[in-house]
Amino acid sequence: MTHQKVLVLDFGGQYNQLIARRVRDAGVYCEVKSYKTPLDDIRAFDPVGIIFTGGPNSVYLDGAPTVDAGIFSLGVPVLGICYGAQLMANLLGGHVSSAGVKEYGKTPADMDTTSPLFDGLPQSSVVWMSHTDFIDRLPEGFHAICTTASCPTAAMGDEDRGLYAVQFHPEVLHTEYGKQILLNFLVKACGCKRDWSMESYAVSAVRELKEKIGDKKVLLALSGGVDSSVAARLLSKACGKNLYCVFVDHGFMRKNEGDEIEAAFRSDEMNFIRVDAADRFLAKLSGVAEPETKRKLIGEEFIRVFEEEAKKIGKVDFLAQGTIYPDVIESGLGDAAVIKSHHNVGGLPDVVEFTDIVEPLRLLFKDEVRALGRELGLPDYLVNRQPFPGPGLAIRIIGEITKDKLDILRDADAIFREEIAKNGLNTEIHQYFAVLTSMRSVGVMGDFRTYDYTLALRAVTTTDFMTADWAKIPYEVLERVSERIVNEVSGINRIVYDITTKPPATIEWE
Ligand code: XMP
Repeated sequence: MTHQKVLVLDFGGQYNQLIARRVRDAGVYCEVKSYKTPLDDIRAFDPVGIIFTGGPNSVYLDGAPTVDAGIFSLGVPVLGICYGAQLMANLLGGHVSSAGVKEYGKTPADMDTTSPLFDGLPQSSVVWMSHTDFIDRLPEGFHAICTTASCPTAAMGDEDRGLYAVQFHPEVLHTEYGKQILLNFLVKACGCKRDWSMESYAVSAVRELKEKIGDKKVLLALSGGVDSSVAARLLSKACGKNLYCVFVDHGFMRKNEGDEIEAAFRSDEMNFIRVDAADRFLAKLSGVAEPETKRKLIGEEFIRVFEEEAKKIGKVDFLAQGTIYPDVIESGLGDAAVIKSHHNVGGLPDVVEFTDIVEPLRLLFKDEVRALGRELGLPDYLVNRQPFPGPGLAIRIIGEITKDKLDILRDADAIFREEIAKNGLNTEIHQYFAVLTSMRSVGVMGDFRTYDYTLALRAVTTTDFMTADWAKIPYEVLERVSERIVNEVSGINRIVYDITTKPPATIEWE
């Protein structure tokens, strides 16, 4: 890769990914590596700038994470953040003390705007603080460039050496000019050209995949989710007919989804294999009502179907996986020995004959994967797809699954999604779908008594899907959805809206 690179050295702070994303959003390629990375490897990585993240420790604690002080002699600008700032002070001969009390939250700060780090900023603004220790003696060559009421060195700089340290967190949005501060470091201190774009990445990624794969065979499990779709498109550009994408259609997809995936991927440029396994999955699940049993049976059957298809193709050289950068960071900071078994293709490495794994999205964040998908010409409905669980509608039908229930749910869910999109709510609500409960109740339709299913609508806003709030959909939209579903879908006579947060509820019902 020919891009300039910035190294984010991770000391265990909770915002390490956020820092990396901000740097990439500024158009600068960066990678997160462990603070344990040897100095020689850092030199070989050849960064134009280095950022030390925060961390939970005090620099004077036994075993506190540290780096070889030689890092400051590489001639590469360094920005230390929070713990990283204190570590820089400590390693360069300054001193860090404990204030006894924590300075936490939004804090007014005064900045020296003659410093390149704060160039173009107002002299006073709000920064986000979260620390107990502070720098009470500056190392030689440094001067304070920011203060707050209780922190005399909220930032320090040695402009000649390009070394900067900030006690606050520029990467969080609560720091009013945080983005600008990071950009100043990247452009004014490191001289970054901001040459990272998905357009150039797509070109270099295809070239590198071509070099790696040559004319060997690659197998990919394509689910139609964002990651596997983008991986498929990228790999097809790199290896064409040597790519085999297997789409196991388990029959639990949403309305028209299987056909949409087929329309997007069936082409002369690669091998797209759609396995229609709906009857097989339905038979397997017949009479099964317990959620975990359903999930387990679907997972096992998926692997079995995939294995049969893989056998028809024969031995492949590469098994492709849709691992993305947050998985890499979370599972050990790019440690090559760790091969994450992605939960949607978990188990595949055991049943497919292959010699190596290829992970074409390994360096990308989720929003970069989407941007790459757009760059590669994937349709919007695939690129902007909301998360969809591997077992699909099977876990959105409470209890036993039948073909009739699947048809009812598919139609109702399609109406709900259509109305959300029509009312422009699809970008602010992060996941929304219908759930067919197994409860039936009495209603009246025309002059007749009905005894039909209750449908639940679920819609949430969330940043990480670990916690979620229920979406405050306007009443008129709910009203329209309700009217349309009971009128257009037979088998449903009552609609309820799920108003629980996660926790205590989960997003899916099963
Ligand atoms: P819960 O229901 O645990 O869901 O709050 C959190 C997020 O994960 C999705 N989800 C799954 N995704 N395979 C997946 O790929 C699964 O088995 C699965 N189960 C839940 C869910 O849709 C939500 O976005």
